[in-house]
Amino acid sequence: MHFGVDYYPEHWPEERWDQDAKMMKDAGFNTVRLAEFAWSKIEKEEGEFEFSWLDRAIETLSNQGMEIVLGTPTAAPPPWLTENHPEVLAVNEDKQVMKPGHRRHYCVNSDIYREYTETIVSRMAERYGDNDRVIGWQTDNELGHPVCYCEDCREKFLSWVRKKYGDLTELNSRWGTTFWSHEYTNWSQIPLPNDNPRKGPNPSLHLDYKRFFSRSTVEYNKLQVDILHKETENQWVCHNFMPHFPNFDHFDMAEDLDLATWDHYPTEIRESYQEVGAGHDLTYGFKGKPFWVMEQQCSYLTRDKLTPAPRPGEARMWTYQSIAHGAEGIIYFRWRPCRFGDEQFHGGVLQHDGSPKSPMYQEIKSVGRELEKIEGAISGTKVEADVGIYYSFEQNWSMETYRYHSPTDYKKEIMNYYSALFDANVNVKFVSRKSDLKELKLLIVPVLPMVDESLVTKFENFVQRGGSLVCTYRAGIKDFDNHVTEKTFPGRLSDLFGIEIHEFSPIEEKPEVTLAGFEDVEKTYPARDWVDCLQPNEARSLADYDEGWPAEKGYAGVTENNYGDGTAYYAGLSSNQDFYTDFVSYLLEQSGVEPILSGDKGVEVRKRINPETGEELIFVVNNSSKSKYVQLSGEFEELLTSKAVSGNDEVDPFGVMILNRV
Ligand code: GAL
Ligand code: ZN
Repeated sequence: MHFGVDYYPEHWPEERWDQDAKMMKDAGFNTVRLAEFAWSKIEKEEGEFEFSWLDRAIETLSNQGMEIVLGTPTAAPPPWLTENHPEVLAVNEDKQVMKPGHRRHYCVNSDIYREYTETIVSRMAERYGDNDRVIGWQTDNELGHPVCYCEDCREKFLSWVRKKYGDLTELNSRWGTTFWSHEYTNWSQIPLPNDNPRKGPNPSLHLDYKRFFSRSTVEYNKLQVDILHKETENQWVCHNFMPHFPNFDHFDMAEDLDLATWDHYPTEIRESYQEVGAGHDLTYGFKGKPFWVMEQQCSYLTRDKLTPAPRPGEARMWTYQSIAHGAEGIIYFRWRPCRFGDEQFHGGVLQHDGSPKSPMYQEIKSVGRELEKIEGAISGTKVEADVGIYYSFEQNWSMETYRYHSPTDYKKEIMNYYSALFDANVNVKFVSRKSDLKELKLLIVPVLPMVDESLVTKFENFVQRGGSLVCTYRAGIKDFDNHVTEKTFPGRLSDLFGIEIHEFSPIEEKPEVTLAGFEDVEKTYPARDWVDCLQPNEARSLADYDEGWPAEKGYAGVTENNYGDGTAYYAGLSSNQDFYTDFVSYLLEQSGVEPILSGDKGVEVRKRINPETGEELIFVVNNSSKSKYVQLSGEFEELLTSKAVSGNDEVDPFGVMILNRV
């Protein structure tokens, strides 16, 4: 287990470093991330490299047993660079040039910026590529913004488009340019999506710009990864994702990386631990293997305003929640709050005074002791799941590039299903178009406007072989050019779901339309945001609309279709959490997926498995500040306390249990 902290030695007098390193060791830390914002300190003026301070910092830390992760510092270019080359500055959607003074103000497509990137990354890699204390690298920092519309981007977009379509006849047809007289007769006429200040650029062009900018970001990252792979020995390369950042396809980027990591700041969402869980599971999904939390919150944060400090035991709970979802590295952000700069009141393990009396230092120190105890049991374990959620950045772009699709917020609809699964205490994994689905019993595909033959075949095969598949409203309405299908909705998915849709509508007033179901459940659920009116062919209705015009016309709201050895479910509406809870519980039962354990709401239950022995470790995490109960079906050993436990057991506020069945 890698356990450590993000440290900025450049912010503190060198005389303090040794004391910091010793205190880190005392806390049980073994890993430190350094340098991801230290460009101006490493290269003070163009070509003047100064590594000796970083050498000494690495040495001081490794003398106390720390292993080092180095960040490449490209998220914040130094002022000499942007002064000499203002053309590297990004241009935002409103055509404003982003000036220096903050961070992330460069364009990933700037050739000049790419050259400077190559230089700084190569020089760092040459310097530390064979340093045996350096175990790995982080590229940049939280890539994904700003989306840029500068002249370099325009030029590269044009060549990307030319390569994709070959000739203008093809482009005109795939972009539907006969609409409003957009037919291009020369490549130079092609606009960027923000060229016209009116909202609503051509949805096909806009989707292509999203794809192009995603590619550009992935390419920029790969430029760094390739240098690091070439110039270093036995060191891995990762990036610290913000998993839901929509502007690039994280699954694509992860293919180039050795490890996926994410930055985890739960305070803002502590009312909904489901979102934290989804962040972990999505990061796991990017590479389909254990991940690191590269920045784990452990204090108050600087956001619009200062966020509340974690309550006693809460940061410990966050740590175990991360581990429960498959983290094998936990790095707290940050060691000590900086006395200056924008984040001077962003807390850390220590307070500004650097004293070991910091309550968070004491809390984390005790976590360090505990981790030593459970290290053996966790090591080599991974997360497996019977239930998957299909996650696609591209499908989200299709929604974003055409505002009249439906009021669906991609993440919100994903979270509606994820939250119900989270509360049902089952492991969930996120899968992408490239994933092998064969291990899954149940796959939920929350928003899927665009389909093509190969995607439909992938889903049909999954169901044919016995899987349960769920699609939701507005599925299959488009092709990958962002054009609406000419088939009856849900287009190419009609056979699989055994339904036809001839009517649909956004829902503005609730509960204008309600749904009754499922099976023996005597409840009604309000339709929210949208209704697809389902007309079953081979399918049968699982839940009918029971109020409003869809009910008068006898439409179904949710259907179930036997297809091959499996079942395809279609949910034609968005509703309240009660609906998702009941629907998901029906789906789990039908597909034979059992909860790991049952417990009060607010108690999270997850498991990790040792793939060699098949042994399972069950994590019970109380996300709340109140005592909760969990039903232990059988006899268990609790690893943190080494006690035997069974029956209806109390979990302390923010408490954690790690269980081994005996
Ligand atoms: C992260 C970022 C860090 C720091 C932190 C503050 O998103 O990577 O550098 O700014 O937020 O919460
Ligand atoms: Zn640009």
